[in-house]
Amino acid sequence: MSVPILEFRNVTSSYGGAVILRDLSFSIHEGETVGLVGRNGAGKSTTLMSVYGIPTVRGDILVGGVKLKGGAHLATTRGVSLVPQGKRIFPNLTVEENLVLGRASRRKGTWTLEAIYELFPNLARGKKRPGTSLSGGEQQMLAIGRALMAEPSLLMLDEPTEGLAPVVIDTIIDALKEIRERGTALLLVEQHIGMIQKLASRFMALRSGELVADGPIADLESREVQEMIAL
Ligand SMILES: Nc1ncnc2c1ncn2[C@@H]1O[C@H](COP(=O)(O)OP(=O)(O)OP(=O)(O)O)[C@@H](O)[C@H]1O
Ligand SMILES: [Mg+2]
Repeated sequence: MSVPILEFRNVTSSYGGAVILRDLSFSIHEGETVGLVGRNGAGKSTTLMSVYGIPTVRGDILVGGVKLKGGAHLATTRGVSLVPQGKRIFPNLTVEENLVLGRASRRKGTWTLEAIYELFPNLARGKKRPGTSLSGGEQQMLAIGRALMAEPSLLMLDEPTEGLAPVVIDTIIDALKEIRERGTALLLVEQHIGMIQKLASRFMALRSGELVADGPIADLESREVQEMIAL
């Protein structure tokens, strides 16, 4: 089998001595779309943050088969990008400046400014505006566009539809399908399993920091899984 884009080997993550994730192991391969579910506080965001060494991490995290030794820059330059929970765009920069900053990885690829504007025409129309003057949905588009500018092999998104209106959610889903079609793997954290069912072929479930399920998306419907994650 091919080398996974991202692999966790017995990862235990903690904040200030409090263990949040216990002995987590999983792999994500090229072109996969994987949903990560679990109730509030289960450790979903901590899983994504572990890739960047934000909690204290024991065990190994490998990107493209190479062990990471901490640092956000390293994961991004090796092809793993994150759209963090709550959007987090740079407030004093225009839309276009936000996008250009995303290019810091210096990886080669096809996500030019033009390609991002084609994916999200709203951003093209507002490119000279301050990022924070955008609507909530447009800020999420900007956060996704900025992450794509790093030319990721794997794009991780932390609740990208939180607080958005249904019509905007549909735009985001269409964009994620397009991104997937272009060959980028997705790791999608979502509370709304409907969103994961529309996009992913596999899901993983966390409960109190432990991985309690990892299987085909069809199993997400099963009562056993529903009870385990108590969504
Ligand atoms: N920076 C931090 N310092 C200390 N504890 C933290 C920190 N970030 C998260 N935690 C704790 O880690 C646990 C898991 O949090 P995490 O944010 O990973 O959950 P989550 O599954 O993403 O939840 P949500 O669905 O609410 O976003 C929680 O108990 C939380 O309080
Ligand atoms: Mg979270």
